[in-house]
Amino acid sequence: MASTTSPTTQTSPASIPPSVFTLPHTAQLEALYTIIRDKNTSRGDFLFYSDRIIRLLVEESLNHLPVVSKTVETPTVCFLALWLYAFGSIYEGVGFEGKICGVSILRAGEAMEAGLREVCRSVRIGKILIQRDEETAQAKLFYAKLPPDIANRYVLLLDPMLATGGSAIKAVEVLFSHGVPENRIIFINLISSPEGLTNFCTKYPQLRVITGWIDKCLDDKAYIIPGLGDFGERRYCT
Ligand code: URA
Repeated sequence: MASTTSPTTQTSPASIPPSVFTLPHTAQLEALYTIIRDKNTSRGDFLFYSDRIIRLLVEESLNHLPVVSKTVETPTVCFLALWLYAFGSIYEGVGFEGKICGVSILRAGEAMEAGLREVCRSVRIGKILIQRDEETAQAKLFYAKLPPDIANRYVLLLDPMLATGGSAIKAVEVLFSHGVPENRIIFINLISSPEGLTNFCTKYPQLRVITGWIDKCLDDKAYIIPGLGDFGERRYCT
């Protein structure tokens, strides 16, 4: 018999910072996460189902962008006006305000670029490579290539896993140094740890985080528990 269960890995809402938004935890979403967390899932299925979640995350992130009023004429002729002049019915809607771009934190963040492009067709995408400095154990910037007008855009920052928050914090520093204001950055990820969210959101309270799931904790190697293992390894098999 079919049954529904409530998610077991969700942190209590009281501890979630107000700038964090999770996807609605429907049974459908839980089923997608169950597939990608399963260590026996094939690479093909991991790609397919993680892409479905990424698409949902990108759509949700667009809900956080400002819109302005926009009136359009539909092809449906307005009946009352027919005898005067044939013009379409009026629809008072909205349009997006301002330009956006994506910035992926390499290498795993690159996996989210296609999902962003599917939704925002000709979106500009920058890249940032951050790695742990073995001597200092700190996140270190190795490479950044960003759109030249990034300061005038909303930035969707892409990294699938928020563990300690070290790389994401460093990436935001890079965006600041290119003139992007904090409240124009939206950080998108599939799974967050409570520790990473606390670190990140305490440092950047105005920056919004869109996450699919908040897990229990980090282990002593900074892997998210229960997590899904190393996202890059599961995605690229290397
Ligand atoms: N990065 C990953 O890919 N997985 C984790 O659990 C933590 C960081």
